[in-house]
Amino acid sequence: MAVEALTPRPSSAKEASPGRAWWIEPALTVICYSAFVIYATWSVFDQVNVVYAPYVSPFFSTWLGFGLLKIPIIGILLPILAVIPLGLRGSCYYYRKSYFRSFFWDPPACAIQELKRGRYRGETRFPWVLNNYHRYFLLLSLVVIVFLWVDVVRAFIYQGHFFVGLGSLVMLVNVILLGLYTFTCHSFRYLMGGRIDRFSKARAGGLWQRATMTLNRLNPQHGAWAWYSMFSVALTDVYIRLLMAGVIHEPRVIF
Ligand code: FES
Repeated sequence: MAVEALTPRPSSAKEASPGRAWWIEPALTVICYSAFVIYATWSVFDQVNVVYAPYVSPFFSTWLGFGLLKIPIIGILLPILAVIPLGLRGSCYYYRKSYFRSFFWDPPACAIQELKRGRYRGETRFPWVLNNYHRYFLLLSLVVIVFLWVDVVRAFIYQGHFFVGLGSLVMLVNVILLGLYTFTCHSFRYLMGGRIDRFSKARAGGLWQRATMTLNRLNPQHGAWAWYSMFSVALTDVYIRLLMAGVIHEPRVIF
């Protein structure tokens, strides 16, 4: 008989980790996620276009036809488009684990008993049923990444010249972190090869296999990229706002 079957699961985190500051991680998670959501919501609804040539905040990317469409990007449209990154993160497998543990304490860790045992219906009921749309949020987010890369390229061009400012580098780091978060997604791994039963029989099977193996190696860091990219999005927005307000002046080199 398995030893685990005879060992009762602790009913609380305190019982599972006696004498340890077990609450620090969930408390920090709640603080950081709440701060990010509040800040992002404020930024999107602030009615200020966060643009400081040639930079544009990731919250206000050149969503609208690479700047060719002259329609207001604030107002109703931007909050609607903000649903894409919000939907991706809200339904992300890493974030699910994280907010179930820290916000709902249900359970606070995998070794601890569930609080509402027997009442959880998985992703068959609202709102958790929305998590099933994760793959669609991913597909839309891949389009967003393209737009963000265009913003980064434009951040290195000023008045027709190649240019490097601290903001160009900030935006570059941000899009790299966002890319690492997006491309280590479980759904992306499925898209790249997880859906294939036998690589030897699939067209370009070797290619799909290599892509899958690479993503398998990167995937365990998905949670870390989720955190880094969340901070980098907010900090990029803050940085550009500070430039706009004249609070800081950055080093720039124009070639
Ligand atoms: S973005 Fe986290 S699992 Fe897809």
